[in-house]
Amino acid sequence: MSKRLIVALDFDNKVDALRTLDLLDCNKCMVKVGLQLFVSEGWELISAIKQKNFDIFLDLKLHDIPNTVSKTIEKIADFGVNMTTIHLTGGENMIDAACQASKDIKVLGVSVLTSLSNDDILKIASITLEEKFKNLIALANNSDLDGIVCSPQELTTLKDFQKLKVVPGIRNKPSNDDQVRVLSASDAYNSGADFIVVGRPITQAFNPTEALKDFL
Ligand code: C5P
Repeated sequence: MSKRLIVALDFDNKVDALRTLDLLDCNKCMVKVGLQLFVSEGWELISAIKQKNFDIFLDLKLHDIPNTVSKTIEKIADFGVNMTTIHLTGGENMIDAACQASKDIKVLGVSVLTSLSNDDILKIASITLEEKFKNLIALANNSDLDGIVCSPQELTTLKDFQKLKVVPGIRNKPSNDDQVRVLSASDAYNSGADFIVVGRPITQAFNPTEALKDFL
């Protein structure tokens, strides 16, 4: 599949974002605009990225009541991005409301953040990470969502999952940052990832163009 790589443009300004875009090939990757960049630069930057022919994943991870999420997804769909995200923990009604409002953009459900460990989940929800993940995947399976976002370490449990699997938490080398449940790009692809999401290993590399090659 072409364009399996999604580069996360986690910057706080359009100068850095557009400079990185100039190093990328829109035929080889998509780009992800997350909360930090969207709050900093808004729709104007989304238009600038579209003009450069990149497919856009607007990753705002919505988590609110069904009405608010539905109205927000309607707005996002008007701007013609390709994919966007909601949190599966928003529950069945919120997921359904998001799907109904989505028009022709893909909506993905975020399962368990790749920065959370089993201990974190036990503290938050008094269940194991495995149980929480299983419950959230059941919700995604029974919905009209186009796919999920999950850690590469959970991919082995998703062999029969038919929707898109979009996978952050990709590290080819050991890193000392906030990501906890990580795998290399090749292990993630081999375990069934449809798309991998990579940020800092490319955008903060000494030579981003060279670094990019390790993830294509
Ligand atoms: O820099 P790094 O490769 O860790 O970037 C990963 C990107 O994927 C970030 O933009 C982060 O917001 C996003 N993400 C994640 N874990 C999730 C969902 C999205 O790391 N569960």
